[in-house]
Amino acid sequence: MSDVEQAQMPSTDDPRVEFRRLMGLFTTGVCVVAVETEDTGIAAMTVNSLVSVSLDPRLVCWSLQNAASQFDIYAAAQQFSVSILGDDQANLARRYAGRGDTLLQPDDFAKSARGLPVIAGALGHLECHRWSEFAAGDHTMMFGEVMGLSSSAQSLPSASPLAFFNGQFCAIQSS
Ligand SMILES: Cc1cc2nc3c(=O)[nH]c(=O)nc-3n(C[C@H](O)[C@H](O)[C@H](O)COP(=O)(O)O)c2cc1C
Repeated sequence: MSDVEQAQMPSTDDPRVEFRRLMGLFTTGVCVVAVETEDTGIAAMTVNSLVSVSLDPRLVCWSLQNAASQFDIYAAAQQFSVSILGDDQANLARRYAGRGDTLLQPDDFAKSARGLPVIAGALGHLECHRWSEFAAGDHTMMFGEVMGLSSSAQSLPSASPLAFFNGQFCAIQSS
């Protein structure tokens, strides 16, 4: 990195802040992970740590912060859904990045083929069965085996995803 580039990256004494700022330059998509139990109803959380891990079996993984107010609900869930958000869904991404148990709006959700709650109108949905998890620092890596998937007819090939870059939601236009 040149001196000029280094100068453009404000430094801080807290290595966590610097790490977070740097990783904010790694642009991601945005999704909502949702679970449902009879006792607690739907819990949903905005997530950008989703990773496609394996094709055989089909595995995905996301990173759950141990301090999340609804950690126990996600950690115990045997199934979860992933809804990949479009660029017209930043309001939903903001809503489900708020405190978990207060902002849920049932109208935001539809039922997947297997009965999991999914965000209505999202670009695509995954239905996942809990596969494994392991502790990783102040987060827990949640692995799911993909049991089903769907995408909205309009979303391909002209999908316009919601992206997250440098702490902000933004749109990416397909060429
Ligand atoms: C763009 C974005 C991505 C996020 N990604 C994650 C994530 O991957 N894992 C996570 O645990 N929290 C993530 N969060 C934070 C959660 O959405 C948020 O902490 C949670 O919904 C509310 O937690 P609380 O009920 O503990 O307040 C993200 C937030 C935003 C805005």
